Amino acid sequence: MSRKPSILLTVILMMALMLSACSPAKSPAGSTDAAPEKKDLKLTIYAGLMEDHAIAATKEFEKQTGVKTEFVRMSSGETLARIRAEKDNMTASVWFGGPVDAYIASMEEGLLVPYKSPNAEKFPDKYKDPDGYWTGIYSGYLGFVCDKEWFEEKGLEIPKSWDDLLKPEFKGQIVTAHPGSSGTAYTMLATIVQLKGEEAGFEYMQKLNGQIRQYTKSGTAPGRMVGLKEIPIGITFLHDAIKYRLEGFKDIVISAPAEGTGYEIGGVAILANGPDQEAAQMFVDWALTKEAQELGSTVGSFQFLTNPDAIPPEEAMVLKDTKLIDYDFDWAGKNRKNLVEKFNEVTKTQPPTE
Ligand code: F6P
Repeated sequence: MSRKPSILLTVILMMALMLSACSPAKSPAGSTDAAPEKKDLKLTIYAGLMEDHAIAATKEFEKQTGVKTEFVRMSSGETLARIRAEKDNMTASVWFGGPVDAYIASMEEGLLVPYKSPNAEKFPDKYKDPDGYWTGIYSGYLGFVCDKEWFEEKGLEIPKSWDDLLKPEFKGQIVTAHPGSSGTAYTMLATIVQLKGEEAGFEYMQKLNGQIRQYTKSGTAPGRMVGLKEIPIGITFLHDAIKYRLEGFKDIVISAPAEGTGYEIGGVAILANGPDQEAAQMFVDWALTKEAQELGSTVGSFQFLTNPDAIPPEEAMVLKDTKLIDYDFDWAGKNRKNLVEKFNEVTKTQPPTE
């Protein structure tokens, strides 16, 4: 065989190959089936957990998925007010952390979209909304954080019940966040009303108001203030007090109310009308994994975890026998507006802006 026909054949073959590479592949049905393009996804999150926890989570999610992720840390009431205002033009697409009471309130107002992540299938029912509007990522217990030195100097017992907080010697010595801005403080308000009934509950809140030196915006502040010896008693989620103690505030001691205490389920949810719905679903899937949940304790967030495979932080084990009330999240979420309005009225206070 001469060489000429074989060169011609090679050229024809190469041209055919080049042409087929340039034309779109056809699916059997004849539709264009383009290769998956690399997307530049991004995501904005409203975070209700501690700032360092939000940093660690968004960094790790970004590293694993390539989704450019940023967050704004806000307390629950602030997030609720922000997403109400942004209803038709939402900036963020995910709400991450903070008690689900406020998620339930916002679900009622059409501010969330349901998403049932496959990763939540094995979660206990109590940790997820049946329609997928929110999913729990952690749980934490409410209690008291105290300055041991102050109590020793005064020869006083640390408070061990809600009623102990009303003792005359504690007048002006207690700090709590405001239920209008803080998920922690709203958990306290809903706990007291569930424990005592509405009438006696608000009578108690009025008396407690007489004992309070300051209402803070965030529920994470009282523990730090006790650690800094600015105040001897704070009402807080106890895992936050443990964080502060391990970070060096050695005189912090904690106690839980003997009558029983309320607790939070911290949630994750997708915001309605958020601009990055695909990335939002990816984030929710990720936040429910064992690895994502276990990341919290690496930055001192010691909540109990909702993924049954995740290992709860050793540091939280001192809280495992805390007496809890049968906290009704659905009721607390649906009554949030009324209870906060009544609290403002009874105490003549408003949530602080700073
Ligand atoms: O650890 C931070 C934390 O206490 C969370 O457990 C909780 O969900 C959130 O902060 C409550 O914050 P805030 O009271 O400011 O709404």
